[in-house]
Amino acid sequence: MRVLGIESSCDETGVAIYDDEKGLISHVLHTQIAMHAEYGGVVPELASRDHIKRVVPLVRAALDKVNLTLKDIDAIAYTAGPGLIGALLAGAMEAGALAYGLGIPCVPVHHMEGHLLAPMLEDEKPQYPFVALLISGGHTLLIKVEKPGKYELIGQSVDDAAGEAFDKTAKLLGIPYPGGPGLEKLAENGKVGVFNFPRPMIKNPNCDFSFAGLKTAVLNATLEHKDDLESVKADIAKGFTEAMAETLEIKCKRALKQCHLKTLVVAGGVSANKDIRNRLQHLMDSMHGKAFFARREFCTDNGAMIAQVGMLRFKAGQLGDGKIKVYPRWPL
Ligand code: KG4
Ligand code: ZN
Repeated sequence: MRVLGIESSCDETGVAIYDDEKGLISHVLHTQIAMHAEYGGVVPELASRDHIKRVVPLVRAALDKVNLTLKDIDAIAYTAGPGLIGALLAGAMEAGALAYGLGIPCVPVHHMEGHLLAPMLEDEKPQYPFVALLISGGHTLLIKVEKPGKYELIGQSVDDAAGEAFDKTAKLLGIPYPGGPGLEKLAENGKVGVFNFPRPMIKNPNCDFSFAGLKTAVLNATLEHKDDLESVKADIAKGFTEAMAETLEIKCKRALKQCHLKTLVVAGGVSANKDIRNRLQHLMDSMHGKAFFARREFCTDNGAMIAQVGMLRFKAGQLGDGKIKVYPRWPL
């Protein structure tokens, strides 16, 4: 059986095909980064219009890559939320139309569940149960995962998400959209320890996060150094990344201990960051446990993660109520 997945929740249009025997067999992606760059961030109306244009050619490309036609597809999965409403609708409507025309099921998928299980696309897969750290543009979540679909929230950000903190900090340093990858690049030339930013809420005995104060600390540093900002920018980027990475490490360690688990799965756009990956890998080595990440291209938004979860839902007979709906806000 094969499920074709469509992702269109923000600024990436992704299409992929997941085969229940072979796993992921095809995936294609179009990123809107260049289109939004001149505005300094995602313009929702432009995003929606572009998704409408891209989905059908990408579906064709994903099928052509593996010499399949729509007749070889058993279900269509789409990102039903959370995300930008117009962008979600663009993918959902095309998914619904395709499924209706082909007379096959249309499966709604939660975008964050897609991210959460993206490391399962790799050859070496984590064993359940595990603790998952989900760090994206809109979410920072620590979740105990018993099995697919059984998720217990054990911590979350009380203000900015990790990706949001990266993007806002990048803006303060004059790094163009998208901020996260640009800030990672800048930090490569930065020195550790020149700027010691706060590790927010680590004394709090829970697994929640807060990143608003960290962003304010960076703002203060940029103001203090407004006359020589160019010369300290890389050190600020490194200091920010270190503070973020250490905070995530402390909270992950706490969550793992609380759950009596030694497997950590890290997913979402921010998990592409090398310093964060290294730090969490090191944590798991020191705990004699194991860390799992998706390959970098599957950390950020993509169709593969949607096709994979679509297959899980399809095989479990969880096909929604047959109506095509989207949920801009949708807790996991
Ligand atoms: O998961 P994602 O692609 O979309 C959401 O569902 O939000 O995450 C996007 C976020 C953005 O905030 C982006 O700046 C951040 O992930 N990001 C990174 C890196 N690549 C993407 N942050 C730090 N380092 C990166 N290499
Ligand atoms: Zn995402």
